[in-house]
Amino acid sequence: MSRRIIIDTDPGQDDAVAILLALASPDEIEVLGITAVAGNVPLALTQKNARIVCELAGRTDIRIFAGCDRPLERPLITAEHVHGKTGLNGPTLPDPTMPLQDAHGVDFIIETLRQEPPGTVTLCPLGPLTNIATAFARAPDIVGRVQEIVLMGGAYFEVGNITPSAEFNIYVDPHAADAVFRSGVPVTVMSLDVTHKALVTRPRNDAFRAIGNRVGEAVAAMTDFFERFDKEKYGSEGAPLHDPCVTAYLIRPELFTGRHINVEVETTSPLTLGMTVADWWRVTKRAPNAMFMGTIDDDGYFALLTERLARL
Ligand code: BDR
Ligand code: CA
Repeated sequence: MSRRIIIDTDPGQDDAVAILLALASPDEIEVLGITAVAGNVPLALTQKNARIVCELAGRTDIRIFAGCDRPLERPLITAEHVHGKTGLNGPTLPDPTMPLQDAHGVDFIIETLRQEPPGTVTLCPLGPLTNIATAFARAPDIVGRVQEIVLMGGAYFEVGNITPSAEFNIYVDPHAADAVFRSGVPVTVMSLDVTHKALVTRPRNDAFRAIGNRVGEAVAAMTDFFERFDKEKYGSEGAPLHDPCVTAYLIRPELFTGRHINVEVETTSPLTLGMTVADWWRVTKRAPNAMFMGTIDDDGYFALLTERLARL
């Protein structure tokens, strides 16, 4: 049965690939709308980039909304050092012509969850969790109506990428992440423990380029761009392709394994702010609240991406 989803995103090249994978997979995924949030770059750019990506996929029918322009309690931290000045550096893509919807992204999330039958809408956050937490705070009645949240964020064994102890999406808005992990909604977490095993090696990027369509060329140019930063940082054979793990999970969940455990978010310590304290070894009696993923069939993941992007 196809999943009906709202993608909440801060594109970001890897967000772009996650969106493209969803749009290339209509049998498994129906995209109800895309909400942009401030994260990798400010909101004015993330909402624009979301439209650029949908136009690249030829999907000007997708509704795109701008959401929150800053985290709940902290100043915005961005990641131009990874994603470039526009957030989507790499390919040369035209400015979008499709419109931004008038409604606020948070209102779209609330209204969609109220309109659709309970348990039929999955939220897919690919950036800081500000829009989701704001929707839950404003409309607590929608919380019990969410089917599942499948998000990219957090880490346990890999610990952190923006600080020694925190992953970027959680660090940018730890208070929002805390609210989401405490919400009671089933949460599936694509952590750095998974995404750091999903490396765009040279042959994998060549395979994107060899697809031979506009999308394959653009995706190869995107990963070429952020690779220069990540390869230097990690000394690995390629950069991690984080966010498409979320949409790949909706299509082929068997590519991933993890544990249903308790995960809590540090919101006060200056040293470990935004850390996802995951009880991987089940050493506490804290109730499990998240399916925390730890492994990926990386060959299967890249084969899926290449096969699906070729359909666009
Ligand atoms: C996450 O942070 C962003 O830079 C990426 O788009 C991804 O969502 C990885 O930590
Ligand atoms: Ca992202």
